[in-house]
Amino acid sequence: MGWKHPEVSLGEMVNLVKGFADILILASGYQSSGLLAHWDQQNVTKAFQWGFFFEQVFKSFRCSEDSDESLQELDKALSVIVADASFPQGLAKLSSGTLSRARDIVLEQLVHCLPLRDSNLGALLCSTIQMDLDVLSREDPDCLSRYLDKLNLQNTSHDSLHDGGSSEKFSPINHADIANNETEERAKQNGTNSCIQELLKRQSAVSCALSAEKSLAVISRAVGSSQLTWGDQSIDREHLMHDGASRNKDQLDEVTIWYRWKTRSLAYFIDKRTIRLVSGASMMFAASPMQWAQVFERLKMSEGRNIGSLSDKIELLLLGCVTRRWSLVIKHLQSVYHDSFTSSQRFSEVCNLLSGRSQNLILKESMAHSKEGSILDYLMNLLDGQVRLLWMVPPALSAVAIPSWSPLFRFYVNQIKIQLKEGSPMLRCCSCTQEKKEHKDCELAERIWCLHIFHIRGPQLWLGGNDE
Ligand SMILES: *[C@@H]1O[C@H](CO)[C@@H](O)[C@H](O)[C@H]1NC(C)=O
Ligand SMILES: *[C@@H]1O[C@H](CO)[C@@H](O)[C@H](O)[C@H]1NC(C)=O
Ligand SMILES: *[C@@H]1O[C@H](CO)[C@@H](O)[C@H](O)[C@H]1NC(C)=O
Ligand SMILES: *[C@@H]1O[C@H](CO)[C@@H](O)[C@H](O)[C@H]1NC(C)=O
Repeated sequence: MGWKHPEVSLGEMVNLVKGFADILILASGYQSSGLLAHWDQQNVTKAFQWGFFFEQVFKSFRCSEDSDESLQELDKALSVIVADASFPQGLAKLSSGTLSRARDIVLEQLVHCLPLRDSNLGALLCSTIQMDLDVLSREDPDCLSRYLDKLNLQNTSHDSLHDGGSSEKFSPINHADIANNETEERAKQNGTNSCIQELLKRQSAVSCALSAEKSLAVISRAVGSSQLTWGDQSIDREHLMHDGASRNKDQLDEVTIWYRWKTRSLAYFIDKRTIRLVSGASMMFAASPMQWAQVFERLKMSEGRNIGSLSDKIELLLLGCVTRRWSLVIKHLQSVYHDSFTSSQRFSEVCNLLSGRSQNLILKESMAHSKEGSILDYLMNLLDGQVRLLWMVPPALSAVAIPSWSPLFRFYVNQIKIQLKEGSPMLRCCSCTQEKKEHKDCELAERIWCLHIFHIRGPQLWLGGNDE
């Protein structure tokens, strides 16, 4: 029954796996304190030796009869460790299956997670080459020429991988990848070869990302200068406005303002900085609330409570509520067309959401314990009643990130209500009230417009949309 290994006890094995996990964490390039992790050739070789050790342990099982029970026992113990809230999610796939290819795990972590500065890349290559030479020298004193011969043989296969490799699906830290057949084959080849293949994968991933970034920059520029025809009715209407002599100037102004709001919102969402924040938020909030909250605390400690970085944090939290619906939001923004409501008509529809509880309750039930729920709770605490902090993020973001069931929504809408009131003492975000003007072309009107398009004209955005 249970774990049977002549030399290593189950408890020892579990501790060794924990130690291995710590090394893999360092392979992200950072220590848990947030400082850079130092990787030189010795460190890299040591990590591969750990991998080799696990592979040997599991290899020795393959020859024994009751290995299944041992492996089950180990997997049971590992699943407990992995389920712990403080255990890194990226390593959740550690099991007897993946550990039996532990050197591949080390290689993948080092190639795909470690920032590949010159020194890191050098350490990785030197370590791999040295290990291969060591193995070869046991069999052959003239190991260097055999090594180079072997390398030459690989030349053509690398070229073909490089050509067709860019279409290959790749996701870093995907340990399921490790278990598939391709990598099984690869494990039989030698260290340098595996390393080159992983580096080529990383290179093609990076070049994909760069092309995407370039294309995005072109789109962003086009949106920013409002020259893009999205092919929806809104643009046609705008042209009509320009052509129709019967339209009056007010209407034309309205369309111009609306178009500015729309492109400004769109430009924000597809901005390179925003996309980076979204990508960070998506990774960060994939962790348990306890884990990401720790990361947030650390952000606060390292930067102090200055207002600039606080607004970045608020932005990051709000973006965390949107990652799941990202492409839906952009599609919706593209599709909104001009309407002739006034700000106060729009706002009264938004306010109706606060009293229309029935549908919201259902939504609330389904969302309350979700990722977004815990992010919003955290944000509510962070704001600590200072709504002006919400005023620092773009109108489109607060509108699309805060669901109407959340207390934060009520808080936000009520603040707009106060701003709309004449004679209210608070700091104003526009001067329309003093100048006895309608809120038409001001920040408040833009915030209301955004709430309206996302909550009244885009209810589908809130119904379990998921494009992750
Ligand atoms: C590499 O080794 C040095 C000491 O030789 C040590 O200070 C450092 O923490 C090690 N780095 C990693 C990532 O293990
Ligand atoms: C590798 O292949 C390229 C062309 O595919 C060739 O030009 C080069 O000489 C080859 N290198 C070696 C070392 O064989
Ligand atoms: C790997 O591929 C071989 C055939 O090339 C097949 O027999 C084997 O079942 C595959 N293994 C896995 C784990 O998919
Ligand atoms: C390279 O091949 C040798 C056998 O020729 C083997 O012992 C060694 O483990 C291999 N290295 C890797 C990293 O697969």
